[in-house]
Amino acid sequence: MGIRLTEATKAWVLIGEKAGCTPFSDALEQKKITLPELSPESCLVETLYGSWEGNMDHALRADPVNICVQRKEPEVVLGNSAVVRVLAPGENSGLAEGDCCLIYGAAETDEYGYMTLALAYDAPATSGVLAKRLVIPAANLIPLPKTTRHDLERWAAFSIRYITAWGNLNVAIKAFRSQMDEHDLPVLNIGAWGGGTSYAEVTLAKLRGHAPFLVTSSGSRLEHLKKIGVTGIDRRRFMGLSFDEDRYDSDPDYHKAYAAREDIFLEAVLEATGGQGFHVIVDNIGTPIFRASLRSLARQGVFATSGWKRGMRTPLFRAIETIQRHIHIHTHYATRNEADESVSFAEENDWLPPMPARVWRWQDIPALADAYAEGDTSWFPVFSAL
Ligand SMILES: NC(=O)c1ccc[n+]([C@@H]2O[C@H](COP(=O)([O-])OP(=O)(O)OC[C@H]3O[C@@H](n4cnc5c(N)ncnc54)[C@H](OP(=O)(O)O)[C@@H]3O)[C@@H](O)[C@H]2O)c1
Repeated sequence: MGIRLTEATKAWVLIGEKAGCTPFSDALEQKKITLPELSPESCLVETLYGSWEGNMDHALRADPVNICVQRKEPEVVLGNSAVVRVLAPGENSGLAEGDCCLIYGAAETDEYGYMTLALAYDAPATSGVLAKRLVIPAANLIPLPKTTRHDLERWAAFSIRYITAWGNLNVAIKAFRSQMDEHDLPVLNIGAWGGGTSYAEVTLAKLRGHAPFLVTSSGSRLEHLKKIGVTGIDRRRFMGLSFDEDRYDSDPDYHKAYAAREDIFLEAVLEATGGQGFHVIVDNIGTPIFRASLRSLARQGVFATSGWKRGMRTPLFRAIETIQRHIHIHTHYATRNEADESVSFAEENDWLPPMPARVWRWQDIPALADAYAEGDTSWFPVFSAL
């Protein structure tokens, strides 16, 4: 029989009818919520540190969908990237009081374990870590190594971006190797457009012995990349690169300005890669840079994505992609096995986000939401629920 929990907890709740209003944080309200019953297969946990994620931003913007409408629920508690501590384990949960766990973000999968609905996002009747305490299925908890040598703040930002990066890069490299093996080309040039998932992918590529490249418009990020052995490509040299197919075809001034920026980007890629181009390009940005991403790829190169931060529609010339034998891969998060493997690998190889310079306080979560929407946070924005 389940344990009846009568206590209430504080949560930042997304109010569905306010999603899409600006500032986006207007859709968040702090409320007391009552926790559901604890089943034998679930755990009562407390949120320690959480990370602000692209999916939370998409939910506040109601872009591409209003998840409250889709879920037929007026209010939703978001948040699927965090470190939580078990307060009360369900008797069949396999976990113990005090265990620190990451969130595994897939609420529903297909029969092969690939995510179809995300916890605390589009999966109905699921709740996330924008609550001080929550009851969560044990299947959504990944125990951290008991003696982890890494800070919990770093693990908090791992759950979504790093697990996604693990799944995406594995598929991308396997796809490349389906045409060109290690004898053809032992070291691959793996390029990516800035962002947390991309950072995770290029640092993983480096640990696997490949040559990593990351595009960013930030001077301090370029300095950091230099220190960790990732070649930075300075986006400020071609700032404003943004493809619009209609304008490209109809507006000669736009056409000329776009082409000039794209040429600067492509020259920078050729210069950085010794004339080879990228063997894999990770593009989670979408519409504005898709054309440039494809043009930066070497023959037999792999276009890899798991996101669409700035647009989902990406037209391409099938003939060019065919002749160049480009492979396009699209992945969404990862299976539970991949998630477990990624955590073991991270513990052993120190493959985690950098320690955040700032940890946002619980009461500042709406400010964090707006700062993220404006692009004014680090790539790994972490908040504390303590
Ligand atoms: N499917 C999944 O399971 C999954 C998992 C994780 C993320 N995602 C999605 O992937 C996307 C990226 O998320 P993220 O957290 O990895 O990235 P992020 O940290 O949100 O990326 C932000 C960075 O992208 C760069 N950027 C923004 N607009 C750009 C533009 N127009 N051109 C070039 N660069 C631009 C900027 O880097 P600089 O300022 O340094 O230039 C910016 O700081 C989101 O849509 C997210 O929802 C999906």
